[in-house]
Amino acid sequence: MKFNVALVIIVATILGIELQGFHCKTVQFIFGDSLSDVGNNKYLPRSLAQASLPWYGIDMGNGLPNGRFSNGRTVSDIIGDKLGLPRPPAFLDPSLSADVILENGVNYASGGGGILNETGTYFIQRLSLYRQIELFQGTQELVRTNIGKEKADTFFKGANYVVALGSNDFINNYLMPLYSDSWTYNDETFIEYLTGTLEKQLKLLHSLGARQVTVFGLGPMGCIPLQRVLTTSGNCQEKTNNLALSFNNATSKLIDNLMKQLPNSSYKFGDAYDVVYDVINYPSKYGFQNADSPCCSFGRIRPSLTCLPASTLCKDRSKYVFWDEYHPTDSANELIANELIKKFGLGVDHSSAPSQAPTIVPSQPPIIAPSQSPVIAPSPDN
Ligand SMILES: *[C@@H]1O[C@H](CO)[C@@H](O)[C@H](O)[C@H]1NC(C)=O
Ligand SMILES: *[C@@H]1O[C@H](CO)[C@@H](O)[C@H](O)[C@H]1NC(C)=O
Ligand SMILES: *[C@@H]1O[C@H](CO)[C@@H](O)[C@H](O)[C@H]1NC(C)=O
Repeated sequence: MKFNVALVIIVATILGIELQGFHCKTVQFIFGDSLSDVGNNKYLPRSLAQASLPWYGIDMGNGLPNGRFSNGRTVSDIIGDKLGLPRPPAFLDPSLSADVILENGVNYASGGGGILNETGTYFIQRLSLYRQIELFQGTQELVRTNIGKEKADTFFKGANYVVALGSNDFINNYLMPLYSDSWTYNDETFIEYLTGTLEKQLKLLHSLGARQVTVFGLGPMGCIPLQRVLTTSGNCQEKTNNLALSFNNATSKLIDNLMKQLPNSSYKFGDAYDVVYDVINYPSKYGFQNADSPCCSFGRIRPSLTCLPASTLCKDRSKYVFWDEYHPTDSANELIANELIKKFGLGVDHSSAPSQAPTIVPSQPPIIAPSQSPVIAPSPDN
């Protein structure tokens, strides 16, 4: 009898220790577009938004394309590194498993994706924010099956969530006459529709257990090389920039309201609009030499939709703000990340190793044979 009681106590103690000892690591779940994509579109074979050819990724790791739409790191890479968080792998990476998720989180970001389902349809395949949230629900199921509901809830409540979309809803939707949103809405009603949709999505994420959420605003997207080259003057498109400012205003208010409405959660909003606008006007102040054209371009044929193996690269990639027609370089992303960290009021862990900056070799890279030919012709279906 005494023996049995002792046994029960021992068993209970072991179970208790095991529950308390549940190693719940803080990881990130990232929802975004090409500015945060770390390889999802590589696994969408029919997507026209691809970063799978040289010279994407040239300043990172082995220099081969890794799915990032830049020469180096994304803004989320840099912020996560500075906070000492692991870099989450792409959701569509075949090696993703429950163990990998528990250690590293997941990145659902997809080039061409938007807040709105209808954004970026001409890329044929991309993951819109609603789709990314559906995939996150699948991730939750997988984790619950593996570690049980209680531990899974703790894990998901303790994670950091990043939501960084919106540019495509303008550039690859509202501002293109091809899309019905461009004639259905005006500037004001479109921004209401867009931020109203974002509100529903952020509430949905909250209902799924997201408690620490950071939302990125938009930069001066009227100054991306593509927008400039479409004007005769080569200047930034003020109308496009004003849309970004209005979106940032409306989203900032939305985040303030969510903070009041949703209990026990932390919402942070930040944008790097002002600092990027300043860089564009005074590049040398920040150590840049070029802020209006892509480092990777197809000679004088512009706009080129993407960086290609046959493109020429600028001499010094660290001195260019833009990598291709749409996306900033690693150096510009570092500046944006530093600004966002400041806006979010995030305490940076100075004890951890500094984010590793890529070695930038200011010379023409070696010729690397592309392992995959670009998808040019859209399939008729879908
Ligand atoms: C958007 O797409 C998702 C599927 O990813 C679907 O469940 C949802 O109903 C769609 N929403 C709208 C407003 O069309
Ligand atoms: C953003 O909000 C500020 C203050 O609320 C206002 O002064 C500014 O005009 C707004 N900008 C835009 C583009 O809506
Ligand atoms: C907020 O957190 C506290 C402490 O963990 C908890 O007691 C309370 O029920 C939570 N409130 C809501 C509405 O979830």
